[in-house]
Amino acid sequence: MAMRTAISSRILSRAALPGARSMSSWWRSVEPAPKDPILGVTEAFLADPSPDKVNVGVGAYRDDNGKPVVLECVREAERRIAGNLKMEYLPMGGSVNMVQETLKLAYGENSEFIKDKRIAAVQSLSGTGACRLFADFQKRFRPDSQIYIPVPTWANHHNIWRDAQVPQRSYHYYLPETRGLDFAALMDDVKNAPDGSFFLLHACAHNPTGVDPTEVQWREISYQFKVKGHFAFFDMAYQGFASGDPERDAKSIRIFLNDGHFIGISQSYAKNMGLYGQRVGCLSVLCEDEKQAVAVKSQLQQLARRMYSNPPLHGALIVSTILGDPDLKKLWLKEVKVMADRIIGMRTALRESLEKRGSTLSWRHITDQIGMFCYSGLTPEQVDRLTNEYHIYMTRNGRISMAGVTTGNVGYLANAIHEVTKSA
Ligand code: LMR
Repeated sequence: MAMRTAISSRILSRAALPGARSMSSWWRSVEPAPKDPILGVTEAFLADPSPDKVNVGVGAYRDDNGKPVVLECVREAERRIAGNLKMEYLPMGGSVNMVQETLKLAYGENSEFIKDKRIAAVQSLSGTGACRLFADFQKRFRPDSQIYIPVPTWANHHNIWRDAQVPQRSYHYYLPETRGLDFAALMDDVKNAPDGSFFLLHACAHNPTGVDPTEVQWREISYQFKVKGHFAFFDMAYQGFASGDPERDAKSIRIFLNDGHFIGISQSYAKNMGLYGQRVGCLSVLCEDEKQAVAVKSQLQQLARRMYSNPPLHGALIVSTILGDPDLKKLWLKEVKVMADRIIGMRTALRESLEKRGSTLSWRHITDQIGMFCYSGLTPEQVDRLTNEYHIYMTRNGRISMAGVTTGNVGYLANAIHEVTKSA
């Protein structure tokens, strides 16, 4: 016995296998990944022991006490599904009920496209998963295409299309001088892009700027897309958070649909149902007919199968329970409005607090911009000062998550912003 052990350890020793690598060398070249510009802020916030700390980094809704919110409609859905012992796999394309209800929110309750089964749609791992699935689909079936991405955009868009190996181009969006939309430059970029280009558009409540095109501007964008034969892929992560009404927030999409575009949409329930950690959303692609939709859906499912097989059940059950019951849906719509209104109220409060402190800078954009974020115009250095001196955490591009601003911290925040911008 002892002799066998000695022999096997000799066989396994490095000397006995001269070509063998030592176990520790496999990952020696791996460097730590850079911190995520958004989620890294939360990590830093959590590590800060200061009692004064404020997190206006990640886009996650808080109530006026700064606490995460579980919507009443979600609590009721949870009560109804409690004890549900269905633990089987969902199909690769996810919950059919959830997907059908989700499509109604984007395409319209009585959409002909839904009736005609022209939409290829699958449940996704929230908005990020929908974007990634689409990017992979784009790469597979339009391998020579590129994606036009607004400047700026949600930082993760770049990662998603990069990892899907779709080359990226940028288009003008935000004009720092006006803190508004650079519409003329945007239109020039749309016109100058090669015919048939793919564009990523934020359907509403643009992240990070809080700047959306007006309805008239959307019509012009849609018209120009038609002229150029571009493909519009809408990321709609904040439906309901711009106006407080999901129906109104789908305006951009409806304009494109009316104009006859074949669009793609990423939808998410992270924000508007507060289901952040449930990772529930939907990817849809409008097709020419049912046959094409069946083919596209089968390909999306195949991509999903290889990545994660099939999506999770629980969040989908919550969503389909809420949207499938008229009373619960009504309650949800009411609660979305409450969240959006609180944010709008905080915009006014922050602007007034800054003006009251005698800031000579214009803070009008705080109330002009909409959705969860205010693109404050603070420089990375000013943001660093806010963090280091005042324990206020936000992304270094100056984005303030208005969802983290409360009656209790708005004065402190305004004071700190005033102090770091005084000499600007
Ligand atoms: C954000 O922009 O803060 C959110 O969409 C959260 C995230 O995943 O980045």
